[in-house]
Amino acid sequence: MDSILNELDALVVQALEEIGSAGDENSLRELEVKYLGKKGSLTAMLRSMGKIPKDQRPVFGKKVNEAKAKVADALQVRRTELKDADIRRELEDEEFDPTLPGLELPSRRGSFHPVSIVQAEVERIFEQMGFRILDYGEAESDWYNFEALNIPKDHPARDMQDTIWLKDGGLLRTHTSAGQVRAMQEYGAPLRAVFPGKVYRYERTDASHEHTFHQVEGLMIDRNISTANLIAVMKELLSAIFGYEVTVRLRPGYFPFVEPGFELDIQCMACGGEGCPVCKYSGWVELLPCGLVHPNVLRSGGLDPEEWTGWAFGLGLSRLAMMKYKITHITHFMGGDLRFFAQFGEPV
Ligand code: PHE
Repeated sequence: MDSILNELDALVVQALEEIGSAGDENSLRELEVKYLGKKGSLTAMLRSMGKIPKDQRPVFGKKVNEAKAKVADALQVRRTELKDADIRRELEDEEFDPTLPGLELPSRRGSFHPVSIVQAEVERIFEQMGFRILDYGEAESDWYNFEALNIPKDHPARDMQDTIWLKDGGLLRTHTSAGQVRAMQEYGAPLRAVFPGKVYRYERTDASHEHTFHQVEGLMIDRNISTANLIAVMKELLSAIFGYEVTVRLRPGYFPFVEPGFELDIQCMACGGEGCPVCKYSGWVELLPCGLVHPNVLRSGGLDPEEWTGWAFGLGLSRLAMMKYKITHITHFMGGDLRFFAQFGEPV
């Protein structure tokens, strides 16, 4: 019995020594099999039970089990030591940068709407010329949208802009001109302002028509304002937008709130006026309606037409964005396809 107990002790000492010097998880697993496995040497000790006198068997069994527990503990301790050492080594490793982000799905950044981009550009140009940027609501009264702009109820010009009416008798503004009289009432004269925004028309949509689109209105009121002022500011704006000295021309155009009223054309930027498919071989592209503010409109705004004169224009921001980015369908603007918007780059 004594010799077999010595053998057991020696086995434990040997096991602890080997476990203590094991360098990795694999060697630990091998040692576990070697001592504690089904065919392991400690397990084998139990099989020597037969050689031991019957009365001493319980004591021997207990000793073997204690030995096995000791070895199992040592394995566990060493395992933890190795793991800790691993982590410490990783932390001490200069190449480990704890500030690096963890694994995550790449997040996508949004981009500006093309209309927002040209709107910001137009606003910047007018700000430099001393214009205020104003913002008026999209739900408007009949008076500001039509009546105050010299378009009485039975006027045929109302048919020029099919209207989306609201239940309370109001409407969704059909043009940013609805802000003209508001601006005059709010700021009086002299006045220099632009007011961009969404406008609505009760229209069937196609490649160039949309029920909701964007305009920017320009309004300048002062003493002795003439068509020459209008042309000068329009040339300044368009040259800044298109990046070269544009040539413009005015044709007569009818709008009840301007007199005289014009359609402003620019010489075709695709062919320089030679004639091409873009300008339908005319050499000119229609760009924006404008004119001198009608005396009745000045009166609506509380201004004396004997003292003040002014000009106004309405620029289609959606159209401008289409020209700038060569977009062929206006319906993309109000659609929700993110692949379309992603083409206009990240926010500037
Ligand atoms: N409001 C007009 C439209 O949307 C455009 C316009 C604005 C014309 C200002 C003249 C002066 O059709």
